[in-house]
Amino acid sequence: MTLALDSQHIAGAAFDTLADQYDSLFTFSTVGRTQREVVWERATAVFPAGYHVLELNCGTGEDAMFLARRGVRVTACDASGKMIEYAERRKAVEAPAALIDFRRLATENLDELPAQPLFDGVFSNFSGLNCVADLRAVSSKLAMRLHPGATLLLCLSTRFCLWEMLHYAAKGDFRKAFRRCRGVSPASLDGHSFSVYYPTVRSLQQSFGPEFRLRSVTGVGIAVPPSYLERWITRYPRLLAVMKRFDEVVRNLPIFRNIGDHMLLFMERV
Ligand SMILES: C[S@@+](CC[C@H](N)C(=O)[O-])C[C@H]1O[C@@H](n2cnc3c(N)ncnc32)[C@H](O)[C@@H]1O
Repeated sequence: MTLALDSQHIAGAAFDTLADQYDSLFTFSTVGRTQREVVWERATAVFPAGYHVLELNCGTGEDAMFLARRGVRVTACDASGKMIEYAERRKAVEAPAALIDFRRLATENLDELPAQPLFDGVFSNFSGLNCVADLRAVSSKLAMRLHPGATLLLCLSTRFCLWEMLHYAAKGDFRKAFRRCRGVSPASLDGHSFSVYYPTVRSLQQSFGPEFRLRSVTGVGIAVPPSYLERWITRYPRLLAVMKRFDEVVRNLPIFRNIGDHMLLFMERV
């Protein structure tokens, strides 16, 4: 209980400070859009119209709005009250009738959701789950809220990001270059410190394995760089197009799918 309250408080406070800038820094950036397109392609395939999807760590609601536009009903949660406020405002302006219920709720506290209705799928995009220490507990809480055969689409930061290692090693910043490799790394947003965890595909299989079967892993942002290289890559649109094409070819291949900025796991409730 203490852990859950602490996590909600820490993640909420840290990400509250980012909420106002998050869309301009990431959502509407070229890199953010390019990486999100890969996730959306998969999301469209696994969450058909009529599904009720539970979205974890929804941020400013970009994915919830995308799914709702395709006829998916979304219960979208985030630990940050400011992110949820921002998402509610966007919905009111852009799509007031959209079937989205935004809630301030930390992933660790999923048991606070009503026991019914059961969901058809779960979606977590862009590293919210990297902020959660105990994914085994998340898996068993999710399992209780899902129909048999329900689908999970989870996008997390990888343990080994080739771009990050090369970029920071070239600058002589080896601590940053290899920060993910230790599996957990301290992070700070506007003075709020928290831990970021970098599970491997194997450890995710162990955490989710009792309740979910891993169906596929897709690399996101392999040649396409992380968002901190936005200013550099937007100067070379042709190079970005080549990188995008390269990613399309290799993103489902072993090794490549594990060394991008993010990895997208598709699982099914057993
Ligand atoms: C990088 S943002 C991703 C937001 C959104 N999913 C997207 O694709 O743009 C990470 C989000 O995870 C949320 N978050 C971090 N820790 C969390 C936790 N323990 N429970 C719920 N949300 C959390 C943050 O508040 C933030 O909105």
